Amino acid sequence: MKVSMIGTGYVGLVTGACLAEMGNDVLCLDVDENKIRILESGGIPIHEPGLDAVVARNVKAGRLRFTSDIARSVAHGTLQFIAVGTPPDEDGSADLQYVLAAARNIGRLMTDYKVVVDKSTVPVGTADKVRAVLAEELGKRGNPVDFAVVSNPEFLKEGAAVDDFMRPDRIVIGADDERAILLMRALYAPFQRNHERLITMDVRSAELTKYAANAMLATRISFMNELALLAERMGADIERVRLGIGSDPRIGTHFLYAGAGYGGSCFPKDVKALIHTAAGEGQQLEVLGAVERANDAQKRVLGQKVLRRFGDDLAGKHFALWGLAFKPNTDDMREATSRVVIDDLLSRGATVCAYDPVAITEAKRIFGDRPGLSYADTPLAAADGADALLVVTEWMEFRSPDFTELKAKLRQPVILDGRNIFDPEFVRAFGFDYEGIGRAPAGEAGGNAGADAGQPGAGA
Ligand code: NAD
Ligand code: UDX
Repeated sequence: MKVSMIGTGYVGLVTGACLAEMGNDVLCLDVDENKIRILESGGIPIHEPGLDAVVARNVKAGRLRFTSDIARSVAHGTLQFIAVGTPPDEDGSADLQYVLAAARNIGRLMTDYKVVVDKSTVPVGTADKVRAVLAEELGKRGNPVDFAVVSNPEFLKEGAAVDDFMRPDRIVIGADDERAILLMRALYAPFQRNHERLITMDVRSAELTKYAANAMLATRISFMNELALLAERMGADIERVRLGIGSDPRIGTHFLYAGAGYGGSCFPKDVKALIHTAAGEGQQLEVLGAVERANDAQKRVLGQKVLRRFGDDLAGKHFALWGLAFKPNTDDMREATSRVVIDDLLSRGATVCAYDPVAITEAKRIFGDRPGLSYADTPLAAADGADALLVVTEWMEFRSPDFTELKAKLRQPVILDGRNIFDPEFVRAFGFDYEGIGRAPAGEAGGNAGADAGQPGAGA
């Protein structure tokens, strides 16, 4: 099938590459000419495991191409996927300017039947707006061409995006046009893998499904984070509690890891947008408001642990930070907890040395030449001379360091583990003063929680 992918960010590039992998003829459009230049010269503008191989294979096969030529993109695909950003506006609502600009371009230039697919995460009612823009543009030209608008929200996770797309647990299609549904069904047939994974519904329900999924996941995390803070007060261990409640299949152990707050380009913005959508309908989403407030506070928990130990004035104190990306296996730092932690420490006069396997370039772009902030080439080099090590992202390579060497590097053997990647008793046995998020105090080890502790990446 001929597919045009409008927007070659995390979602567009992965979707385009994976659809090409299934034999489709995909043309990816972006208004960012630099991105297109990188892609055309064989590079990948983002860090996403496995994506480079899929892109290279399909470019070589002639099934995946890139362009910044809008007319060429509109002419190419019967299926026109819109996968552009929907960032939060100042009031928290989703900014639809890029989605509607993409739709306007299609309406302005289309000459035959198109299925316009909203792949971006968009509020309920957006398909109606896209439809109106298309009709308006066609009307201006006095050129009645048939089209359909479909909602096809994306559920991939960064860091596992290719795998998630190739092996989806569900494919949601919101449409009221039989011809469009048949085309979408045919497009996704190879991803069904002998199982019906395609769920068709009306457009509005599909649009709401995406927000409902992210809001539910964010709620689980904020709830566990609040319980973790309570566990700290009460001398309990959140990891044991997680296993205790997660064995109930109605709850499940996945995506229930306490930590230093959720970040990324989706949860924070989608929670905000859903609250805003509901407010527009006169409904206050009480639970979701609390989820957001709890997460804002949670991102400050590591900084507060530092202040409790070292006092309010951190002048002369130096901290090592492991992890800048909002989660492992990505260089994305949108809404990353590391940004809050670094701001908190620097604003109190401390200096920080950070290490991340892939996000240092992005951090330099974000922080510029921020005084007091430096970067190291290895985790151990970052720890050199630090008064404490703060773990902010649960990269695999942080999980089993040489603790003896680590202790020798640090000025004080303090580990503040914002992702619960270490077994507290094991680390304490090396003489570290260890604090996780909601973990049992020293001398309270027991049960089997340590062995399974802190696997948010794996459990997600
Ligand atoms: P992104 O910022 O990485 O990429 C968006 C791209 O669209 C950019 O390259 C931008 O230059 C391009 N663009 C903007 N306007 C354009 C236009 N008119 N024509 C062509 N290109 C244009 O964004 P993303 O992370 O891929 O997210 C895209 C959408 O998918 C958002 O709505 C997001 O909420 C949703 N989503 C994201 C994820 C994720 O993990 N990142 C997962 C599921 C859904
Ligand atoms: C999320 C959704 O999972 C995905 O379905 C949607 O399409 C896009 O948004 P993503 O933001 O890429 O994906 O990563 P995810 O693995 O969900 O993690 C989001 C944040 O939650 C990260 O900061 C992570 O550290 C945090 N998290 C995740 C926890 O704190 N605890 C957990 O148990 C899981």
